[in-house]
Amino acid sequence: MQDKPNSLPTNLIPQALVPVMLSICDTARDVADVIARGALGQALGQEVGAMNSDGDGQKALDVLTDEMFADALTRAGVRFYASEERDDVVTLNPEGPLAVAMDPLDGSSNIDVNVSIGSIFSIFEAAEDGEASVLRPASEQLAGGYVIYGPQTALVVTFGDGTQYYILDPKTGVFTLVTDRMEIPPQASEFAINASNSRHWHAPVSSYIDDCLAGTEGPHGRDFNMRWVGSLVAETHRIITRGGLFLYPADDRPGYETGRLRMVYECAPIAFLVEQAGGKATDGAHPLMQHQAGRLHARVPLVFGSTQKVERVAEYHQRLG
Ligand code: AHG
Ligand code: MN
Ligand code: MN
Repeated sequence: MQDKPNSLPTNLIPQALVPVMLSICDTARDVADVIARGALGQALGQEVGAMNSDGDGQKALDVLTDEMFADALTRAGVRFYASEERDDVVTLNPEGPLAVAMDPLDGSSNIDVNVSIGSIFSIFEAAEDGEASVLRPASEQLAGGYVIYGPQTALVVTFGDGTQYYILDPKTGVFTLVTDRMEIPPQASEFAINASNSRHWHAPVSSYIDDCLAGTEGPHGRDFNMRWVGSLVAETHRIITRGGLFLYPADDRPGYETGRLRMVYECAPIAFLVEQAGGKATDGAHPLMQHQAGRLHARVPLVFGSTQKVERVAEYHQRLG
């Protein structure tokens, strides 16, 4: 691979996180190259015949990206690596200072159909062991972010002082700053939920969505639009850019008692960067930043987006929960 410049300017990165952020962005740049070739390369969306711990069939790109990030984070001196694609937290460097939790490839069902997918990451200070490092309140994260592989490859990340947005400039190969302070509009008329599950929802969510569908004749007094991409990073990027509301609630399907999305490597980093952009993230009723997972692949219901919308959903939970 020809000698490439650093993939990310480091002036807005806390000093202690520069090596790990460069490692994530260098690797994401290579992942973007693999994705851009699609079927011209290996069959990225092909099931590899194995399942991850959460029971999802693993696709070739899930496994490939997991290995790419694990190798890079090893070289970056990270101590613990937690991944959607691995049963347990693994030790990369016993003396390293940091723990990284990743969904190395989010939106796997979209790999073969050229829809935006992504990589999600959460960075903690390393604790006495791998699990103790990541099974802690989301508020203890040092960083939360994602790379989205879409019409643009982009990085959205927070270190606790605003949410930064970079676009990978194809000409230079560098993630170039767009803004260091993204702001989610406080109001919106767009919600994202997988409506095919509506018969399984609990009362607060059913009632809230029914009221949205009632439009100007309903209690919200406005018409709504709906989106559902099937890639959490694509929904997040739309909402953090133009506002909106995302819901993956608990429902009464077996295994979905606490929704579908995993706290450690999906919900916690997304909650962190959304709240740092002025939005809100809850489990429907309670703030997610105070929540901590009991085990690595634990799921939690996820509602996030424009503050007024998230607060409204919490009111429905208080009233009907
Ligand atoms: P992953 O591909 O990492 O398993 O994540 C997929 C997640 C998330 O990206 C998306 O919002 C959600 O699954 C879609 O779930 P449904 O297929 O149940 O709609
Ligand atoms: Mn995911
Ligand atoms: Mn995944």
